[in-house]
Amino acid sequence: MSNAEQDEFVEQVRERSDIYSVISRYVSLNQRSGKYWGLCPFHNEKTPSFSVDAAKGFFYCFGCHTGGNVFKFLSLIENISYFEAVKLQAERLGIPLPTKKLSPEEERRRREEKILLKCNTLAQEFYHECLIKTARGEAGRKYLAGRGITTEIIETFKLGFAPDAWEILLTKLTQQGFSAEQIEKAGLVKRRNDNSGFYDRFRGRVMIPINDIFGHTVGFGGRILVADDNSPKYLNSPETALFNKRNLLFGLDKAHLSINSAGFAIVVEGYMDAISLVAAGIKNVVATLGTAFTPEHAKLILRYARKIIFCYDSDEAGQRATMRALPIVQAAGAEVFIVKVPEGKDPDEFIRNRGKTAFDELIKNAVPLIDYQIDYVLAHVDTSTPPGKIRALQELLPVVAKVTGVNRNEYRKKIATALVLEETVVDEEWHRFSTYRNPPPPVVAKKISAPIDPSIKTSGETILRMVWNDSDLVSYVMATVPLDLFAAVHQEILLWLKNCADSGKHPNDLNAEKELSAQAFEELSRILLRQTDERRAIDVEAFEDSIKTLRYIRLKKQYTDLLAQAEEYMQSGNPDYLDKLNESLKIKKAMDDL
Ligand code: UTP
Ligand code: MN
Repeated sequence: MSNAEQDEFVEQVRERSDIYSVISRYVSLNQRSGKYWGLCPFHNEKTPSFSVDAAKGFFYCFGCHTGGNVFKFLSLIENISYFEAVKLQAERLGIPLPTKKLSPEEERRRREEKILLKCNTLAQEFYHECLIKTARGEAGRKYLAGRGITTEIIETFKLGFAPDAWEILLTKLTQQGFSAEQIEKAGLVKRRNDNSGFYDRFRGRVMIPINDIFGHTVGFGGRILVADDNSPKYLNSPETALFNKRNLLFGLDKAHLSINSAGFAIVVEGYMDAISLVAAGIKNVVATLGTAFTPEHAKLILRYARKIIFCYDSDEAGQRATMRALPIVQAAGAEVFIVKVPEGKDPDEFIRNRGKTAFDELIKNAVPLIDYQIDYVLAHVDTSTPPGKIRALQELLPVVAKVTGVNRNEYRKKIATALVLEETVVDEEWHRFSTYRNPPPPVVAKKISAPIDPSIKTSGETILRMVWNDSDLVSYVMATVPLDLFAAVHQEILLWLKNCADSGKHPNDLNAEKELSAQAFEELSRILLRQTDERRAIDVEAFEDSIKTLRYIRLKKQYTDLLAQAEEYMQSGNPDYLDKLNESLKIKKAMDDL
């Protein structure tokens, strides 16, 4: 992509982006005096100081001073680069990326991935046809019917059946022109031990296609019809260039819109759990692929919602895994909740036995991760003896340390009650723990800069806000107010606005982000979001006043300098002191006129 193409692309994405809808996915915003306000996602706060000006396309936090445009927001919240944020937003809006020039290595990889994708797509179609149309598929149809899976769900997930034969898929795909090596790389066949050829990996299994976020099949999970001890219940595709369990979530290609609108995702452990929930009308559900939930998974979901509800089997192994994985997920920025399915059932059995309403109720009662962790420790440590209590405390304090705000006290109370300890004992332990964990920050010498008259700053802001809205004003400002009267960061913005006006370029958040220093871009965001009177007439007045203020400050400085000189001349007997005095009087007059 050339620079010009890239600029055009970014421009196009921004034009179609609405900063309010983007930010409100992550932050709950309320309207007040023409702007939106919410709790800043970039620092901890209890009263909203994070604001969004939808019309101008900027956000700014008056608490932590983070600010910028829609892409800056996305890059910070998703922890990606600015351009990745542009691409993410393009993807969400369905704007195709401009094709870029690839290196030969990239070309080769792209070609190979295309082949793997094609093989998997053809396999998916083959297995599906097999299940729904052929006599060989009878066993699969029976199995699924026995589990209450309807034809509609079979269609939705494109479920299939791999016949119990050794080379049926291999033959099919070689006929379509793929080499056995290519099919092997796609994870669909295996090399025979004696190296005499290849055979189908999946045989006699119900096939569950696993898709990437775009709905392309990149691998499979295959369920055996009758569990036995000789082969695994589920056989999955091996890791391939396309199939990576850490980065894939079963069902996400279908669930992401529902996740977005529900505001949360339900994560289950089994493919069949996800399928069953969807069949029951719960569509914001995804499943991991037989591995622990990773921060990469969290990132995928966080594109659509902040909240993730884990709905795991209540068995011991599952719980231990949950305990290990989920704090990491929370650290990735998700709000983590847990549902324990009662009576040792998995979500699939539960919803089939008890129905959707009962399941909805479970979801409603999901507990925050921290409560889950506390309950887990309390259930697994014998807290009846003093050493047990200490152990429990040692395990619980790091958990509580992750909680921010007032809740922390509540959790300390909860722990005290559960361990039958005095609250003061818990508080003391807490104090010891937290001072050990968070040594006081090193004292950093404050940057010392010359004090600036605060009215210079506010006048500068008003002027810049006005010039932003009407770039013709910039020449007027430059002609009437000496540049060095502005604060340094305002000078940078003003010069840039002048530059925009001179080159006939309309200043907007995009070129501001690109051409201003980070500090100036943030300052500009802040300025544009500062509460001002909405009426333009008043703005014009404020603008004139600000110009006057700056000129007045300049005159006053000249006046006091001249007076000082005049006095010096007089003391040393220099007759020029009269001239100086006259000059100073002229300036005094100009000041009075202002
Ligand atoms: P479960 O055994 O809980 O699966 O394994 P399930 O969905 O309840 O299976 P059904 O209901 O008996 O059909 C959960 C997940 O762990 C992975 C699969 O992703 C499965 O969905 N798994 C399980 C494997 O990869 N291999 C196995 O042999 C078993
Ligand atoms: Mn199950």
